[in-house]
Amino acid sequence: MTNKIRYFIANWKMYGDLSSLKSIQKVIKFSRLNSTKKFRIIYCPPYTLLGDFSRVVKKTSLETGAQNIHANFDFGANTGFVNSKMIKNLGVKYVILGHSENRALGEDNKHINNKILSAIKSKLTVILCIGETITQKKNKKTKTILKKQIEVCLKGINKKKRVIIAYEPVWSIGTGIIPTNIELKKNLQFIKSIVSKKIKNYKILYGGSVNPNNIKKLNEIDLLDGFLIGGASQSSKKLIDIITKTFK
Ligand code: 13P
Repeated sequence: MTNKIRYFIANWKMYGDLSSLKSIQKVIKFSRLNSTKKFRIIYCPPYTLLGDFSRVVKKTSLETGAQNIHANFDFGANTGFVNSKMIKNLGVKYVILGHSENRALGEDNKHINNKILSAIKSKLTVILCIGETITQKKNKKTKTILKKQIEVCLKGINKKKRVIIAYEPVWSIGTGIIPTNIELKKNLQFIKSIVSKKIKNYKILYGGSVNPNNIKKLNEIDLLDGFLIGGASQSSKKLIDIITKTFK
């Protein structure tokens, strides 16, 4: 295993309540006991818990991220939404944008690009999700889709900005199915070849059904800087297991 920093980003989606604040204590303790290892744990709970999580992790090595933002940088009459400034104000450092669950609700690449520009203006680090659906994969459109997602979403972004790219094949999210290492490697190499033309300082993660049983296999891929984890990240035990196995 190489010596680089590994990212473990916990996307809690629409799960979690006040009792979750207690459950992450185990992960806080784990990170303290393993402070010599090079990893970053970033919790992305729902908005309702983002302020509380950010307070709880303040004096730890853990960090927080939001799961989305509104595209408008300015405050305004947008019922039910929050903007990048509001997120930043909570002490949050990251934001997930372009998640396939939000793309499925109508967010297109151009709209995601606007959100990214707003996030960067607020000095948030963007975690940009890209990935093909099963139909696109079957129709051999994966490369075309990934290229378009990268090029449109990252349009107008300063080359020096730090961005995290999360490759999440849509067909792998919540299904228990992960790509073969050969397929994953091929797609990651392709993504890197496109992203590196746009920005210099980026990390690349994999997301989709990451769990303690498949982490060893996924870790064989040197190209990866870490993982965006959904379901398994809600269990402190599973998250700790995933991290521990990464460093074995
Ligand atoms: P699962 O790990 O539950 O498949 O979710 C992945 C994901 O969508 C993370 O953003």
